[in-house]
Amino acid sequence: AIGPIATLPIVNKVIAPDGYSRDTVLAGGTFPGPLIQGNKGNDFKINVIDQLTDTSMPTATSIHWHGLFQHTTNYVDGPAFVTQCPIIPGHSFLYDFNVPQQAGTFWYHSHFANQYCDGLRGPLVVYDPNDPQKHLYDVDNESTVITLADWYHYLSTNAPPIPAFNSSLINGKGRYPGGPAVALSVVNVSRGQRYRFRLVSISCDPSFTFSIDGHQLTIIEVDGNNVQPLHVDNLEIFAGQRYSVVMTANQPVGNYWIRSVPPGGEVDNSGLNAAILRYNGAPSKNPTSNSSLSLPLVETNLHPLTNPRAPGNPVPGGADININLNVVINDAHTQFLVNGVVFDPPSVPVLLQILSGASSAASLLPSGSIYGLEPNKVVELVIPGGAVGGPHPVHLHGHAFSVVRSAGNSTYNFDNPVVRDVVSIGNTGDEVTIRFVTDNPGPWFFHCHIDWHLSAGFAVVFAEDVPDVPKLDGGVSSAWKQLCPLYNQYINQ
Ligand code: C2O
Repeated sequence: AIGPIATLPIVNKVIAPDGYSRDTVLAGGTFPGPLIQGNKGNDFKINVIDQLTDTSMPTATSIHWHGLFQHTTNYVDGPAFVTQCPIIPGHSFLYDFNVPQQAGTFWYHSHFANQYCDGLRGPLVVYDPNDPQKHLYDVDNESTVITLADWYHYLSTNAPPIPAFNSSLINGKGRYPGGPAVALSVVNVSRGQRYRFRLVSISCDPSFTFSIDGHQLTIIEVDGNNVQPLHVDNLEIFAGQRYSVVMTANQPVGNYWIRSVPPGGEVDNSGLNAAILRYNGAPSKNPTSNSSLSLPLVETNLHPLTNPRAPGNPVPGGADININLNVVINDAHTQFLVNGVVFDPPSVPVLLQILSGASSAASLLPSGSIYGLEPNKVVELVIPGGAVGGPHPVHLHGHAFSVVRSAGNSTYNFDNPVVRDVVSIGNTGDEVTIRFVTDNPGPWFFHCHIDWHLSAGFAVVFAEDVPDVPKLDGGVSSAWKQLCPLYNQYINQ
């Protein structure tokens, strides 16, 4: 693990995590990238250096710290052409931010083109030395991270219109159908100990149904927010989501399958979509355990540990600002339209447009994709599911939100809805309603976290409290002079 002060070189490297060699783009030269960790209250200073040379893929880069609010530091949020110009080869960019309020399980990934599908993704954990969860559940070990990924045998630049993944990887290892029986990841435990496993979906596309044979899981954290304990046997985790689960190693010493099964994927015992939970003292053998998928996670059963109420008037449409986002796919099935508009990245980042003096959201580009939000308001977003290629997991930067209506439910919960930063909007006939408070000035991306859908236009930008958007610090502004061709034209400072 590295951090909170670290250098992160971005490199090309040929790797074969499932036995099939391909060129990749990696943070720190590994897949997944190194665990970045720090404590609540720390200053994180991550210097990202672009060392990319393979021109068959994009050689620029940009990193987003998924789930961190970046209050007062919108300019290091990371999405290319929203808050920054991409970093170009031979250059670096210092992501310098504080994490004053948040703790839990996060991740980081490229937010440039479809680069994270080529490998640039890794976990990030913020520890809270006073975390009530540690004491509530008496965990002996809270540092085990389990990343769940999809993996492709082709470069993202060669992806077909509807990309299909070749394998799923747990902690960077996995097998593909018909492929070699490469070694799987092993999570070691000692009998009698309690573990907090931090599950991170670093998926580009599919959800995964996660379970550990023979072991119940107690969910205690969702996307960096502590929740009341909820017992499940399995949970479906969508692209970008995180869960902390407590598992007691209370079964006979042995090997057990850890399963991470994509939709339609196989629950088999040959090591597809799997890793191994190995008790100390057990032989180094494959498990012979069987799946126990009886008690699934139901999202409406998740409730915040503290401050559970959703903001605003507790009736549908009762927020200060009510916005519907209707998503459709075009006839050719190549682009998504949100309220009739395909998001097309502007050549000048939205933040640069704002800092150069754009006074209203209406004048910001790309037009039709920017929604202005006034400060200190409750915002309600209503998003119907059912767009082709779903269920779509939507993600909001700069905030977590209360899910007052979950996919598959007609009822609302304003009393104690789950708070998270990615939610599935479900299938045809579903509708999701979320709420948040505009307490964080900046342009914030809102998009489908299926990365192929983001690049096909499934995104909008919320221009929140434009007059109070944080000004660049000196380091960022000198970096921008190097990275943004139009910088001097736009900013005189
Ligand atoms: Cu994890 Cu805009 O993304």
